[in-house]
Amino acid sequence: PLELTRRQFWKAGGALALAGALPARGHAATATSAPASLRLTAAPARASMVGDDHPATAVWAYGGSVPGPVLRVRQGARFRAVVENRLDEDTTVHWHGIRLPNAMDGVPGLTQPPIRPGARFTYEFTPPDAGTFWYHPHDNSLVQQGRGLAGALIVEEAEPPRVDRELLWVIQDWRLTRDAQVALGFGGRMEAAMAGRLGNTVTVNGRVPDDVPVRAGERVRLRIVNAATARIVALRFEGHRPLVVALDGQPCEPHEPVGGRLLLGPAMRADLILDMADRPGSRHAVIDGFHDRLAYELVALAYERGAPLREHALDASVRLPPNPLPQPDLATAERHELVLQGGMMGGMGMMGMRGAAWAINGMSMTGKGDTHMPPLLSLARRRTCVLSLRNETAWWHPMHLHGHSFLVLMRNGTAVAGAEWGDTVLVEPRQTVEVAFVADNPGAWMLHCHVMDHEVSGLMGVLRVA
Ligand code: C2O
Ligand code: CU
Ligand code: CU
Repeated sequence: PLELTRRQFWKAGGALALAGALPARGHAATATSAPASLRLTAAPARASMVGDDHPATAVWAYGGSVPGPVLRVRQGARFRAVVENRLDEDTTVHWHGIRLPNAMDGVPGLTQPPIRPGARFTYEFTPPDAGTFWYHPHDNSLVQQGRGLAGALIVEEAEPPRVDRELLWVIQDWRLTRDAQVALGFGGRMEAAMAGRLGNTVTVNGRVPDDVPVRAGERVRLRIVNAATARIVALRFEGHRPLVVALDGQPCEPHEPVGGRLLLGPAMRADLILDMADRPGSRHAVIDGFHDRLAYELVALAYERGAPLREHALDASVRLPPNPLPQPDLATAERHELVLQGGMMGGMGMMGMRGAAWAINGMSMTGKGDTHMPPLLSLARRRTCVLSLRNETAWWHPMHLHGHSFLVLMRNGTAVAGAEWGDTVLVEPRQTVEVAFVADNPGAWMLHCHVMDHEVSGLMGVLRVA
């Protein structure tokens, strides 16, 4: 109940100035096109998230804004970013979902030294895949991301599908006090062993969203990034039938969301094609109903009153061009099981070592990642690996693998229809999910739950590809 009432409190109290969703290109002031080297500064800032008659929120921000600037690069073009740390603690930047060289992966102590306060680090890579990706710190992740450090990274196709407009929604979840400040007390042990730190204020592109203006008859490509630290969303588009055309940046068979709701755990992304109907003046909610009894309106699509853009839906393909992903060879695959353990009601409770609440195969890597621990798995380079993620816990875990994208093969023994690729897969309580990938990227790669409290309290490990 806290979440909904708080959210209503903001809704009731705030003058909601900005539309909840800016067209991606509307971010022009901050959008940057590589290859020119771009500068990205992580520093304290103030953000007006809940309306101008509330005090601004003290946040940590990339480029002074929450979320950070939308970074854009063409597929196959060189991307170069000089990151400057103006926080008073170490940080790094991780380019989530990009298949890049290990040294550019942004994991302190594992792939690079931390960027000290006042210091810089240059990241440089060529993204092989087009799609919707994002960036965030990988040092003191729960706090740094929880205070706002996150942004979208868009890799553009050479030939994108034809649409009238592109929208980007970066979702963040905040626990705010009554004076709109980020509540302290990150890393509560109870929450860490449960669903993680859920907030009371959900923002889209850094604002408690107002209506998103749309035009009858237009076709929109909507990119959604769940940049929340713990909140899973299940989005229902009232009065619309969106088609999912990519998951975690990777193109998929265009399909309507399973069961009518788009389920996105923390770190997960979806690209949707949304054909607007012919309903000038009407308003349609987009509802997050993941927590049934706490369902709330995330945003609403508000049709302008003008004449429709066109009479009939745009007759162009919605299919995205494929990315150059290595195809798993199941016949010669090596198979491994990773068992997710712990949490409340999970046996180890909160009694584990060094504040661990969770474990993978009995091992708990915590905090920033103890790189002296042996890797969970050592994989032969270029071999296909089939990973069985068996969730023995009573909680949901969006499990993420660095440096690779995987094909989701099975959920609880049932084959997954179509080719569903991802870098983060949401594993339900007591569910087993099987994924396959070619271990073609040498180095030490993190595998962890993207609920930040889970990650830092044991649901993390390293896969070594040699
Ligand atoms: Cu987006 Cu290791 O994380
Ligand atoms: Cu990642
Ligand atoms: Cu988890």
